[in-house]
Amino acid sequence: MLQYKDHETKYFEGLWHIPEGVTYNSFILETKEGLVVFDTWKRSLGRLYIDEFSKHFDVRDVKYLVTHHMEPDHSGSIPHLLASNPRITVLGHALSKGMIESFYQVKPVFKAVKDEEALRIGGFTIRFIHTPWLHWPETMISYVEEERTLLTCDVFGSYGIPSKLYLDELSVKEQTDFSHYLIKYFANIIGHFRDWVVKNLEKISQSNLNVSTILPAHGVLYRGEDVARVIEKYRRLATGETVPGKTIIVYTSMYGFVSDMINAIIEFLERNSVKPVVHGFTDKERPDLSEILAEAYQAENVILATATYEAKTFPPMKHIAELLIEKIPASKNILIIALYGWGGKAGAELEELFIKQGFKNLDVIEFRAGQHQAVWRQVEEKLSKFLRGNG
Ligand code: FEO
Repeated sequence: MLQYKDHETKYFEGLWHIPEGVTYNSFILETKEGLVVFDTWKRSLGRLYIDEFSKHFDVRDVKYLVTHHMEPDHSGSIPHLLASNPRITVLGHALSKGMIESFYQVKPVFKAVKDEEALRIGGFTIRFIHTPWLHWPETMISYVEEERTLLTCDVFGSYGIPSKLYLDELSVKEQTDFSHYLIKYFANIIGHFRDWVVKNLEKISQSNLNVSTILPAHGVLYRGEDVARVIEKYRRLATGETVPGKTIIVYTSMYGFVSDMINAIIEFLERNSVKPVVHGFTDKERPDLSEILAEAYQAENVILATATYEAKTFPPMKHIAELLIEKIPASKNILIIALYGWGGKAGAELEELFIKQGFKNLDVIEFRAGQHQAVWRQVEEKLSKFLRGNG
């Protein structure tokens, strides 16, 4: 494997804050008839990819390059590989051909592989399985039968830079970190397409593979008992299973009036043995959207409390709400709390956004700055429902 440990990217996809970094994992199968490369590195790393490749292999020996997914964190070094060896045949979904030609202005020898098609090369059998919408339409995975190895690109991928290659080699602390990084990657990148994850997991299970190793193109690798564990974890994420009682609070507060309400809520929950995850946008802090999604994804209860700004929802909260309705399951219990000074419709605006997207377990409470005590009974009633597990 050629792994690039990317400590430089601060915002993955230009969007998701990842202080933990990310890796790009490119895999090489050595056969008697030549090398098969599975995915490459990010576009800006093309020259480095070839340099690293050449330390271990002769690029002239590459017979096939399998592109599982055309997002440029994996396909970006393809033109450098092709420039070093134009005889390489690129294998991928039929949709990938047009993307390669457009993204990188190259015209490689391209062979579209069909779903469940197999390639025999140098004593190995590689099966290609289309996995549409994980998370682009052209995504596919490969299974090397003789190695019992599933190469999955983004699927089962995680943020973070592991100290060792396989999960079972990491300390308990690092394994816990990678459990979170997988959820965060899923919530940020894959979660929008969770129905397709369910369909594709079912498809993979019906393909009668005998997988002993899973090699994602980001983060840590899985083998042995961790294979079944990570598949089950993905299934739970895709089906929207929640962590019972998990409660996340996201709030925006301009001058502290919303914070007063949030402090009362936290105190109430903690008195009842629930420790909520709290992300506040204030004049002192600005939490990461990537972490908010990661925490909200498995929460049972989501409390959004917002200030009103120019008679509408405070802008960061509008953005967060729009992201949440796209990325998290609609089965959550939602409590929207909106504070206003001279007037406005932040509560109604947020309510409409969630209802349009199919969220049904939803309550809205509005109050004027300084008057949070006036609506406390309503808030307490809703929190008590959360505690009883029937938000
Ligand atoms: Fe890691 Fe969708 O690319």
